[in-house]
Amino acid sequence: MTVPRGARLTAHTDATRVAAFEYPKKNIYAVQFHPEVSHTPWGIDLLRNFVKDACQASGDWTMGNFIEQSIENIRLQVGEAGEVICAVSGGVDSLCTAAIIDRAIGHRLHPIFVDHGFLRMDEGDKVVEAWKGHFKSRLVRVRAGKQFLDALKGVSDPERKRKIIGREFIRVFEAESRKVRDAAYLAQGTLYPDVIESSGIGMHAHVIKSHHNVGGLPKRMKLSLVEPLRDLFKDEVRRLGLELELPRPMVYRQPFPGPGLAIRIIGEITAERLRILRQADRIVRDEIEMAEMERPWQYFAVLPAVKSVGVMGDQRTYGYPLVIRAVSSEDAMTADWSKIPYKNLEKISSRVIGEVPGINRVCLDITSKPPGTIEWE
Ligand code: XMP
Repeated sequence: MTVPRGARLTAHTDATRVAAFEYPKKNIYAVQFHPEVSHTPWGIDLLRNFVKDACQASGDWTMGNFIEQSIENIRLQVGEAGEVICAVSGGVDSLCTAAIIDRAIGHRLHPIFVDHGFLRMDEGDKVVEAWKGHFKSRLVRVRAGKQFLDALKGVSDPERKRKIIGREFIRVFEAESRKVRDAAYLAQGTLYPDVIESSGIGMHAHVIKSHHNVGGLPKRMKLSLVEPLRDLFKDEVRRLGLELELPRPMVYRQPFPGPGLAIRIIGEITAERLRILRQADRIVRDEIEMAEMERPWQYFAVLPAVKSVGVMGDQRTYGYPLVIRAVSSEDAMTADWSKIPYKNLEKISSRVIGEVPGINRVCLDITSKPPGTIEWE
């Protein structure tokens, strides 16, 4: 491999003779590695030089400008009278989407929070609290936990669970949005990586994501899409969230699957098993947050469907084990299991068994991805 005539070789590695070259006369700068990934030393400097020196960009993009521009675009798109509905899940993408549209059109936004009952401890209340007092629109929380549990009665197969949850979600959301007269727009928290994925090359990934969450909604409901986060990456969405004064814990919330705790309860989901997992998950998260270690990418509890014998005091117990799952990752495509200090594991174990009736053993998942996945279902 050689550089084109007239170009200058600017980087090589032991394995690659040409890792980068430049040809300033023709304004060509080329690299054959990934400057954008976090473990490339000086990668960001390289990109900064390219954007500012080679492309002569002024670098005046700020989050403040972005907000102003987005507000203008949203107003232009939905006009003077357009009513917009938006599904809010508690995740940072949907919250930021709703927050910025609220800034643009106020009460003509109708945020709908379908509470499927599978959120973590107190999470639903926190979403409502975060909204109240900060925004002009009224967040409607639909408490549909019973409907979801009824629909999932007797179901253990993970794919069926997901499908049922997706179907019920659409039912609840459609029923609620029908109450909004003249709704013509649906706001979605599509991010730039989703745009890339759905542009062709990554079709498969797109299908996975929409199937997990609220795929199919827009077409059925004949609404035009409003997607104010289309140009942003996740870290930029978080900056936007802070700028829009959303609470920090929500902005930095760890990734959480759309179907929630339902895919962390292996086997049948019952109100009792949900109570057990929710309570134990709270302890696992609290204790890991206190550990002297880098915060894992995701850390949570899983409730398997087996029971085993134990002893507590002088009583025989027959209960579920709880599995601690904590992983470090950059993008959830691969992950390594987190080395939680023994003393924190010990505390988790004694607290969970002492405080959560129904659990009599605590285990640690030490599987990386691959071959494991992050979630158990
Ligand atoms: P896995 O388990 O496949 O998960 O290693 C990779 C990432 O995706 C999240 N995940 C989901 N997110 N709906 C979602 O919105 C889902 O059904 C779903 N399943 C997994 C998981 O938490 C991890 O961050």
